Amino acid sequence: VSRVLKRGAPAIVVNSAGYTAVDKAESEVEVARLANVQAVRNLVRALRHRSDTLFVQISSNYVFSSSTVRLIREGDSTNPVNVYGSLKAEAEAVALSSGLRTAVIRTAWLFGDSPTCLPARFLRQMREGQRVVAARDEFGNPSYVTDVAERVIDLSYRMYASNRMSGIFHAVNSGYTSRSGLASHLARISGMAVESVVPCLRSEFQSPAQRPFSAVLTDDASLELGLVPLRAWDVALIEALPALRRAL
Ligand SMILES: NC(=O)c1ccc[n+]([C@@H]2O[C@H](COP(=O)([O-])OP(=O)(O)OC[C@H]3O[C@@H](n4cnc5c(N)ncnc54)[C@H](OP(=O)(O)O)[C@@H]3O)[C@@H](O)[C@H]2O)c1
Repeated sequence: VSRVLKRGAPAIVVNSAGYTAVDKAESEVEVARLANVQAVRNLVRALRHRSDTLFVQISSNYVFSSSTVRLIREGDSTNPVNVYGSLKAEAEAVALSSGLRTAVIRTAWLFGDSPTCLPARFLRQMREGQRVVAARDEFGNPSYVTDVAERVIDLSYRMYASNRMSGIFHAVNSGYTSRSGLASHLARISGMAVESVVPCLRSEFQSPAQRPFSAVLTDDASLELGLVPLRAWDVALIEALPALRRAL
């Protein structure tokens, strides 16, 4: 990494790599820490002489947890409820205290052409005639990875051009829903039976990692940099349908 950074002398470095297996992280804490925290330490160390470089750390809405559905702003205090979220919060702190120009960009519930993203998994179950069991007590912002990637580029350039030393931003599509709300909308727009969606409670899954009741982000800081909110998640999901179908 040091060699590549020296050779390329980049103006902006975006770290989107990460250990993202939320449940597995509960039992593989050290492996997850290496990828999600130590890697960030290594990157900022490799960049320490490049005072003009902007370091962009991609983070997650899982650094938060709220017991009510409310819009979480960039400056709100983090309170993760699982290992993955704690490590992402730790990585944010490492980046922001590195002395480098830094942008932390949090996103959430990504969907696109990945066969493992939530809507692709739901769509596969619907096609196979299975019931789609999805939590009705877990809220977030489903976000189209194409929109988020464009937002990361826009934010990075704007931060780089500004005289700001650091900033935290949220890059999510507008609006929010529950996991079962996402599944129901997907069924509707893809011509599948909405009745195949079975809303349930998070507690019924017995997954290793606790999930936040709500971690809904709002993107006020992006607006301060002159950007408008990203389009609504349900509109973006319609555009993503062909990519989701190809991913199956
Ligand atoms: N997916 C979501 O809903 C979501 C939500 C909020 C935030 N995020 C954040 O968005 C970023 C991307 O997430 P994603 O869902 O797109 O993840 P992903 O599909 O699992 O991709 C993660 C990438 O990180 C690379 N990687 C993992 N461990 C590595 C290591 N030790 N060294 C180098 N590269 C490593 C992987 O490389 P290989 O392909 O070679 O394994 C892969 O390309 C992460 O920072 C994640 O925390 C994701």
